[in-house]
Amino acid sequence: MQTVISVVGARPNFMKIAPIHFEFLKYKDKIRHLICHTGQHYDEKMSKIFFDELGLPTPDFYLGIGSGSHAVQTAGIMVAFEKILLEQRPDLVIVAGDVNSTIACSLVAKKMHIPVAHVEAGLRSFDREMPEEINRILTDAISDLLFVTEESGLEHLKKEGIDASKVFFTGNVMIDSLVSNLSLIDASGILQQLELPKAGYLLATIHRPSNVDTPESLSGILRLLNKYAQGRKVLFPVHPRTRSNIRTFGLEKDISPELILTEPIGYIDFLCLVKNARLIITDSGGIQEESTYLGIPCVTLRDNTERPITVKIGTNYLAGTDMSNADRIIAEVLGGNVKKGSIPELWDGKAAERICQAVYQFLM
Ligand code: UD1
Repeated sequence: MQTVISVVGARPNFMKIAPIHFEFLKYKDKIRHLICHTGQHYDEKMSKIFFDELGLPTPDFYLGIGSGSHAVQTAGIMVAFEKILLEQRPDLVIVAGDVNSTIACSLVAKKMHIPVAHVEAGLRSFDREMPEEINRILTDAISDLLFVTEESGLEHLKKEGIDASKVFFTGNVMIDSLVSNLSLIDASGILQQLELPKAGYLLATIHRPSNVDTPESLSGILRLLNKYAQGRKVLFPVHPRTRSNIRTFGLEKDISPELILTEPIGYIDFLCLVKNARLIITDSGGIQEESTYLGIPCVTLRDNTERPITVKIGTNYLAGTDMSNADRIIAEVLGGNVKKGSIPELWDGKAAERICQAVYQFLM
C-alpha cells in the first residue's frame, strides 16, 4: 500500500483537492490518501464550510497554524508538517495552487526526499511582488510531477528547464469541482435570500494585498463599487483581510449604504452567485477561471494575470489597477458590448482522473 498526503491550507485549496480525494477512492486497494490541513485559513466561513459542502472527510492531520507574517506562517507550517512526515513517511506529497502552505509543505517533503506533485503548475504572472508568484516558481522548481491547467503553463515550465517527462497537461481540478456540484449550485436559495434578480446584479470580491493593503488603493476600489451600486445591486462578500483593512484605514464611512456587504460566502452559494451575475469584479485567481467556464463577464482589477487563457479565449477582462480603466470596461460590458468566451481545453471535469492516473503510474 502506498501513502499519499495531500495538503490544503487556504480557501482556494479545498475545491482543488476534493476531486482528487474522491478519485483516489477508486485506487483504495493500492493507495491510501490522507489529507493534511495546515490551518492557514481557520474561520468557519473560510474553511469548515468548504469541507462540509464538498463532502470532504475531517482532515487526517490539522496543524492549526493560523495567520502571521509570511515568515511566521511559512515556518510554522514547515515545522509542524515535518513531524507529520517523520511519523507517516508517505510515498508522495500533493500540493495545490500557490499559497504559503503550498511552498512550505513542498519544501519540507523534498528535503526529506519525499516526491512532490504540484497541482496547478506552470502559472506565471511575472510579478515577483506577489507572494503567490514566488510560491509558484519555487514549488515548480522542486516538484517531481507537475500538473498543468492551461497551455501557458506548459510554455513556462519548458522555458524554466523543467524536464518534460515530469509535466502533464491535465486540465483544471477547480473546474472538476464546479462541474460535479452544478446541480447543488442550481438548487441554492442564495438569490432569493439576498433578493437578487438573475443576471441583474454585480458581484465583487477583493482581497489581494496590492489592492487592499493601502488606503489609497482600497478606497479607490470602494469608490468604483459605490458608483455602480447606485440604481443597481452590487453584492460584496468581504474577505477577512479586506474587512480588517477597511477598519484599520477608517474607510467604513466611504462605503455607500447601497452596496450590499456580507461575510465570506460558502462554496455552493458563491458559485450560484457567480453563475447568475451580470458581471463580476474581482482580483481573485480562481474566480477568473470559474467565470470563464460559466461564461460570465469578469473584470479583473490587476495589472497581470497568471491565467491568461481566461483573457485570451474566456470572458475575463484584465482592467489593471487604474480604476478609470476598470470603470470604462464595466460600463461597456453593462452597455451590452460583451465578448463571447469559450471553455479552455481540458476544462472538462476530468482533470482529477488524469492526475490520479499519472500519480498511480508514478508510484507503481
Ligand atoms: C491567502 C493566499 C492567497 C489566496 C487567499 C484566498 C498566501 C500568501 N496568500 O491570502 O493567495 O488568494 O488566501 O483567500 O498564501 N484571516 C482571518 N480568518 C481566516 C484567514 C485569514 O481572519 O480564516 C485574516 C487574518 O487577519 C490574516 C489575513 O486574513 O492575517 C490574511 O490571511 P492570510 O492567510 O495571510 O492570507 P490571505 O490574504 O487570506
